[in-house]
Amino acid sequence: MESVEIKPGIFWVGAIDWGVRDFHGYVTPNGTTYNNYLLMDEKITLIDTVKDDFSKVMLDNVRNIVDPARIEHIIVNHIEPDHTGCLDKVMDLTPNATLYITDKGKQGLDRHFDTSRWKFKIVKTGDTLNTGSKTLMFLETPMLHWPDSMMTYVRKDKLLISQDAFGQHYATSGRFDDEFFTCFSVYELENAVKDYYANILMPFGSLIKAKIAEIQKLGLEIDMIAPDHGIIWRSDPGKVVNMYLDMADGKADERVVIIYDTMWNSTGRMTQPIMQGIKDENMDVKVIKLRSTPMSIAIKEFWQARGCLLGTPTLNNIMFPSAAEFLTHLRGLRPKNRIVGAFGSYGWAGGGVKEAYEEFRRMKLETVEPGIQVKYRPSLEDESACYEFGKEFAGKVREYHRKF
Ligand code: FEO
Repeated sequence: MESVEIKPGIFWVGAIDWGVRDFHGYVTPNGTTYNNYLLMDEKITLIDTVKDDFSKVMLDNVRNIVDPARIEHIIVNHIEPDHTGCLDKVMDLTPNATLYITDKGKQGLDRHFDTSRWKFKIVKTGDTLNTGSKTLMFLETPMLHWPDSMMTYVRKDKLLISQDAFGQHYATSGRFDDEFFTCFSVYELENAVKDYYANILMPFGSLIKAKIAEIQKLGLEIDMIAPDHGIIWRSDPGKVVNMYLDMADGKADERVVIIYDTMWNSTGRMTQPIMQGIKDENMDVKVIKLRSTPMSIAIKEFWQARGCLLGTPTLNNIMFPSAAEFLTHLRGLRPKNRIVGAFGSYGWAGGGVKEAYEEFRRMKLETVEPGIQVKYRPSLEDESACYEFGKEFAGKVREYHRKF
């Protein structure tokens, strides 16, 4: 992939990772990109780097434009290794460069590399860097995605380089949002934004809203948002900002997802009448089996629905391990504005459903209790009770959804 000029004198010099399917445990069916940018001005500036595996691709892109030894500034918006993994290699080639980074970023880099010979300039919100004809302004964005994170704004070009925020794990041949020409590819792109948000940024909704408000208050004019993953928002950057505001508000569809696992298919058999009960209340419902589904997809499905029912058998008096794993992931993402319930089978003593509700209460989610439990195999009477439980749950979801 060759470099792409995204604004006069500013080039995308990143790498496309078509093959990655597991991004630190997060499934990436569409691959990803590691975006970074080279600003050619009186003082040449590199903004972010890439994952170490792609250092040669990125450096070749840079060399096609300029000898890396001429780079004077390197901006590190975020220290996670997908953006700094090859920083030591870059520093070896740019002996005169100064790194612009937040204080937290410097502390983090010191733990990843021997930085004793590197020159640093610690920056905070509002600090600027003049490159000759352009002025860059820094904007700290702690926890979007790590404590060190910041964005870089190029006033002359109305360009916001937003690192992880507004990104997507989506490998594509085009670099810009207006290079998606079919309904399907537009749908895939929006889906990639939601998927990324649900799995990475869900806990930070209130921070995101506050940061967007801060940017608006600063009066920064933005006609392009260039994240460090996925496509660059050129034709309509407001679209992704509005998507983020909706997601930060916990927006969800009035529908239900049943997420379950099963040992001898007793809990599995319970899903069918529950699903039918929900459907007969004219509500959309989807069923996801945990061990057949990557965790990050189950999380996204949870995030898109207003209501979720978790089906878990009891194993050794506690939840089934895959159900517990799902709830552990979910608790870390601090979901809100969702209504939940649980069901499952047991042999001689229950425990799984009870434990699921304990976790839900810990997350402060709205619950429909006490759920429904079946001993060994669901009888016809049990299946009728499951059907009624599905109907009841759909009604509660509808009622709860009206609040939003
Ligand atoms: Fe793409 Fe938080 O790193």
